[in-house]
Amino acid sequence: MNTHFGVDYYPEHWDKDRLEVDIKLMSDMGISMVRLGEFSWHKMEPEEGKYDFSWLREAVDKLGEAGIKSILGTPTAAPPAWLMNKHPDIFPINDKGMQTTFNGRHHDCQSNKIYRSYIEKLVTKMAQEFGQDENVIGWQIDNEFGNSHGDLCFCDSCRDRFREYLKDKYKDVNALNKAWGTHFWSQEYNSFEEVFLPGYTVAGRNPATVLDHRRFCSDLIVEFQKFQIDIIKKYSNNQFITHNYMGFSPKVNYFELGRDLDFVTHDQYPGGFYLAMPSDDEAFLSETLELIRAFKNKNFWIMEQQAGPTGWEILGRTPAPGKLALWALKSVAHGADNVIFFRWRTCTVGTEQYWHGILPHNGKPGRRYYELSGMIHKYANLMEEIQGSGSNAKIAMVYNYDQVHALDIQPHHPELSYVNVLTDYYKAFYNVNVAVDMIGDYYDDEALAPDLSKYKLLIVPLQYIETEEKARIYREYVEKGGHLVLTYRNGVKDINNNCQSEFELPGRLCDVLGIEVKDYDCLRDTSVKVELNLFSGNGSLWSDIVTPTTATVIGKYASEYYKGEACMTEHSYGRGKAYYVGTQLDENLFDKFAKYLLTEAKIKAPFAGIEKGVEVVVRSGEKKDFYFFLNHNDRKVNIPLDMILDMNEEIIENRGVLNPFEVAVYSKEK
Ligand code: GLA
Ligand code: ZN
Repeated sequence: MNTHFGVDYYPEHWDKDRLEVDIKLMSDMGISMVRLGEFSWHKMEPEEGKYDFSWLREAVDKLGEAGIKSILGTPTAAPPAWLMNKHPDIFPINDKGMQTTFNGRHHDCQSNKIYRSYIEKLVTKMAQEFGQDENVIGWQIDNEFGNSHGDLCFCDSCRDRFREYLKDKYKDVNALNKAWGTHFWSQEYNSFEEVFLPGYTVAGRNPATVLDHRRFCSDLIVEFQKFQIDIIKKYSNNQFITHNYMGFSPKVNYFELGRDLDFVTHDQYPGGFYLAMPSDDEAFLSETLELIRAFKNKNFWIMEQQAGPTGWEILGRTPAPGKLALWALKSVAHGADNVIFFRWRTCTVGTEQYWHGILPHNGKPGRRYYELSGMIHKYANLMEEIQGSGSNAKIAMVYNYDQVHALDIQPHHPELSYVNVLTDYYKAFYNVNVAVDMIGDYYDDEALAPDLSKYKLLIVPLQYIETEEKARIYREYVEKGGHLVLTYRNGVKDINNNCQSEFELPGRLCDVLGIEVKDYDCLRDTSVKVELNLFSGNGSLWSDIVTPTTATVIGKYASEYYKGEACMTEHSYGRGKAYYVGTQLDENLFDKFAKYLLTEAKIKAPFAGIEKGVEVVVRSGEKKDFYFFLNHNDRKVNIPLDMILDMNEEIIENRGVLNPFEVAVYSKEK
């Protein structure tokens, strides 16, 4: 039987004779793969040059005999004490010049050449040992790049790399001076060798420099990963190579990181989180999974799916019965072809003693084991059938790392966050169960370009940095009949993170939108009243006082000195329409606006009427569409029978009924 579920396993944490017990329990549960080794450098090289893979070999072999395949992590997320004592320069330096130390993990500067030489030797040995092993199906490089690196590294080696990066990018130092506008506050450089890293300063830093530095840090991680991939590829051929992502975590550009990977994986912890977002926010969790699919424009794996209560020093709530399975299936509904649970058994030592695994500390199967085991057996066949099937969304929303960083560097309003703004848009459609694909805006890139012709509605919030190419793409999209939504702070900056002065706001697409913005208001500690057609509500964060040139006004301000002025507009252009939203709408207005857009763009919402808290997600295959009904409520709900009238039953308890936290899958032939 082909199953698609696994666990993150640390056999080196337990007595040797436990291995067989674990394997038996895993097999009974339907586990078909494990990830091993990503923090075990010392176990693999206890002393310099003395390599020992015997424990790993034994685990891989024994698991293999039981039909459980292994994925090996390169252990570069935790360099050992002997190495750090011998070469303390490997410890990263924070932006205040303080060297970090040993006792956690990821205490490594990724540009350090000596560190690289040790990695090269270790990863080579590992790849020689396991590169042709039929029980090893793939590799994970390092672990969660960008995590545990509280700050980016400001050491001399990183400084030198930054200078090289700039030399390569700008060629001539005067080009750099121009791009960064260094005549402001006398920051001109006479040569690349004079450039400082943008660390701690007494006064606010140059936003152009900081953005380039963030791009550099991301590129360094991409290159660090590639360095390891190249080593593994020398010795392996049929094994995949991947990395475990962290959703919206911004330290590395995941589109770029994904170029060198066969597919991406993600770590999904609904009860823990990476950004200041409320955990357990189902819309945000769905949006995150959609983003993961965007990174390579294809389905993904979950490398770490929550398996119990989460927490290091402080704990999250214990997932109620049914929730762990529900969350795993939510990942599947949004495009995960395989799901690996973190972790197998709760550890008794170290930082993560309360980040619970499937098994409790004592290793005896309990509620979580039986719950997940039940789910795995129930879904094994379906998992096989739906491999590769995807979304059939008619709406896409753009995500771009330059906007993440530029708006983090200058957020305008203390509460403005690019991700939160996107999430508000996502939620408006989530609330009526209409799918939204997240996409990247690499339109001229063969490997990454999304196919815009699939989408009737394209939402590009906060396109703060605007480029000529992207403006051209959006113009064409509308010309050809698409519906485009742009928002406040569109077209403000050029690619260097400097304010553009060539165009009236909102930038190059004024004529497509039929508007100009000549005045604006940052809504500090206040909100503004907004009237949208017959509805009224509030706007927050920002007001663009919109002057329609040829556009029609659909929303107006109803307070402040700009009461009566335009806030939202629509404009026909070519065969399509462009909409502009000058403020951050409240939830109610968002819902109204989303419904309006659905009507305008002729997008159906057949599941809009289902009870609140029930999420409907489609995985569209070649012959069939699979409908996942996920009940996030802790009570029983009914599915209106007309919604499933022409649907077949795939995995259900009672037709038309969803028990608390239950998932049901129906299908329709195409
Ligand atoms: C991350 C890491 C894991 C573990 C978990 C729980 O996702 O990849 O190694 O640390 O968080 O803390
Ligand atoms: Zn460094």
